Amino acid sequence: MKLGTALTPNATKALLLGSGELGKELVISLQRFGVEVIAVDRYPNAPAHAVAHRSYVIDMTDGEAVKALIAQEKPHFIIPEIEALATDTLAEIEEQGSCTIVPNARAIQLTMNREGIRTLAAQTLSLPTSNYAFAQSFEELKTAVENGIGYPCFIKPTMSSSGKGQSMVKSAAELETAWDYAKNSGRVDTGKVIVEGKIDFDFEITLLTVRALNANGEVETHFCEPIGHVQENGDYRESWQPQQMTQKAIANSQDIAKKITDAIGGLGLFGVELFIRGDDVWFSEVSPRPHDTGMVTLLTQTQTEFDLHARAILGLPVNTTLKSAGASAVILSPIDAQGLNYQDLEKALSVENTDVRLFGKPEAFVNRRMGVALAIADSVEVARENAVKAANAISMSS
Ligand SMILES: Nc1ncnc2c1ncn2[C@@H]1O[C@H](COP(=O)(O)OP(=O)(O)O)[C@@H](O)[C@H]1O
Ligand SMILES: [Mg+2]
Repeated sequence: MKLGTALTPNATKALLLGSGELGKELVISLQRFGVEVIAVDRYPNAPAHAVAHRSYVIDMTDGEAVKALIAQEKPHFIIPEIEALATDTLAEIEEQGSCTIVPNARAIQLTMNREGIRTLAAQTLSLPTSNYAFAQSFEELKTAVENGIGYPCFIKPTMSSSGKGQSMVKSAAELETAWDYAKNSGRVDTGKVIVEGKIDFDFEITLLTVRALNANGEVETHFCEPIGHVQENGDYRESWQPQQMTQKAIANSQDIAKKITDAIGGLGLFGVELFIRGDDVWFSEVSPRPHDTGMVTLLTQTQTEFDLHARAILGLPVNTTLKSAGASAVILSPIDAQGLNYQDLEKALSVENTDVRLFGKPEAFVNRRMGVALAIADSVEVARENAVKAANAISMSS
């Protein structure tokens, strides 16, 4: 593997589509290898803009705008950080063969729409998933629920993330509200919603899975220790590593993660979301990129999920070893405001073995994720307690 020098004619260049907090850490990991990084987002001064060599503000769903910027910057790697992208344009660019879409254009297309990835997992690969159906009208939805999926169930737009437009429905009386919500709150109205039977899991995990080259240039799959997490309103609140689970559940999880990432292909890190009950494991969804619950690896692993993604992309060997048990807790804004003030950081950081990342987002709104508190400890329990303590110690005002 050969790498150039940033800001010289032989630079190895990476362009990020999406420049949030995960992108910011990825930029730092790439720059540690001297990669020239260009960060793109829909608004100025996004988190990764602050640390990239250059930054741009464009509408990333506008294929022409994306094409023009790529023609101008000529990156070697295009790294999507979000789902709302002009994915057909990425497929065209990949076709031309002058740069690598990470992990590949098909992966980005498949995962931006729940229908694509669910069909691949459940139909093509026969992986265990919740019972599900797609519906294009309220009548279709009602029939699907009444004829098998039952209550409680989840209704989700086919194109959405972070729980947007998603609701759990417990009875027939709530179904229409959930339909309207899903139809009106997705990122793009595909005309379809997915309904999924509720899985009664003991806990849910993200299994960070890395496809990277070994010394012989062959692709190898590596797994991090499982990350447990809690979600509220479809958004993550706390995560921890390692999640205790049975040997069988670990084996089943790795088997599912291997199958889905093999089918997706390419090089990079994936966040495979799984539901666990006893030894049983269900596939939920997968991100072909670092995962928000994986921010815990900023303290728990020798190579963070961002280091692992950067190394895998660049064709370098990876090491997924866990260094310490740890936890993360999100720091959410209590208010709508521009240029938030963060107080009492000294109190947060007085909690033993903690650290804090503030993302530097110029605009806050209620419950927007502005930062994350991290903790390591001898046990996950203590780490969780300390991460939450540190996150709660920070107060925010306009
Ligand atoms: N079928 C299901 N059974 C049980 N819980 C679910 C189901 N679908 C979603 N959830 C819960 O909602 C969360 C968010 O759902 P997910 O499909 O991952 O949406 P998003 O793409 O917004 O992350 C999950 O992490 C899980 O806690
Ligand atoms: Mg999810």
